[in-house]
Amino acid sequence: MSGFNGFDENFSLANKTALITGAASGIGLAIAKMFARKEADIIAFDKSSDLSELEKYVKNKGRLFMGISGDVRDKKALQTMVDKAVNDFGRIDILVNCAGVGLIDSALELREEVWDLTMDVNVKAPFILSQMVGKTMIDKGGGKIINIASQAGIVALEKHAAYSTSKAGLIMLTKILALEWGKYNIRTNAISPTVILTEMGEKAWAGEVGERSKKLIPAGRFGHPDEVAACAVFLASDAANLINGENLVIDGGYTIT
Ligand SMILES: NC(=O)c1ccc[n+]([C@@H]2O[C@H](COP(=O)([O-])OP(=O)(O)OC[C@H]3O[C@@H](n4cnc5c(N)ncnc54)[C@H](O)[C@@H]3O)[C@@H](O)[C@H]2O)c1
Repeated sequence: MSGFNGFDENFSLANKTALITGAASGIGLAIAKMFARKEADIIAFDKSSDLSELEKYVKNKGRLFMGISGDVRDKKALQTMVDKAVNDFGRIDILVNCAGVGLIDSALELREEVWDLTMDVNVKAPFILSQMVGKTMIDKGGGKIINIASQAGIVALEKHAAYSTSKAGLIMLTKILALEWGKYNIRTNAISPTVILTEMGEKAWAGEVGERSKKLIPAGRFGHPDEVAACAVFLASDAANLINGENLVIDGGYTIT
């Protein structure tokens, strides 16, 4: 069938290079590690300079590693990383926009600085980096872009004015890139998790608010970073070559009602 070349049923990412932002902790770290287990070479970008544990892990798996610390709001740092990645690895096959901030407050109290920071990190930076990497993917014949959004981008949650708006924007950006870049063999998809038990998730949903929220999830529990990483492996793999502009929701059924 035209355009279909089969795929590895173990979802291998062998011979692929993946660039992951926010790779120093939580979901991004789990994605980078699982990608390495699936034989991808890893480029990790994070504002934290603590990428040494990940470097050791990736190299132990026999994969190549490049770690760069910087802020996703720093366009120059992003361009330097993309240029270096293409120079050293030849190409970027997979981009995961995972770096994000989750600052919440009531709509009446939310400060303008928090709004701006949230939009800059959660929506603008994924756009700028996708544009930079997208150009290199077009040159090299295609690729996969995965944006880590949130269930908060689909349903309204109290105190989430900035965060939910940013993630809803990221979901729509995903669809636009899918629409415009599908013809270049680039597939762009989002993943929208429920509360995931990372540092960010545990802080935001500790105590009573978390217990109440878990009762609203038909599956009755929050998620683990590896469960999000598994979704990313699938979307990054050749098995997902016809999935484009989708938002893969991993929420135990929270948003179905
Ligand atoms: N944990 C959850 O419950 C949950 C649920 C849905 C979606 N998400 C999304 O998943 C992504 C990862 O979240 P997490 O829970 O792993 O959080 P985390 O705080 O554990 O990890 C976020 C990473 O992003 C990095 N980062 C933050 N701002 C940055 C910047 N300006 N430049 C470069 N790096 C920066 C941090 O240093 C950190 O390593 C975020 O986009 C978040 O919105 C998280």
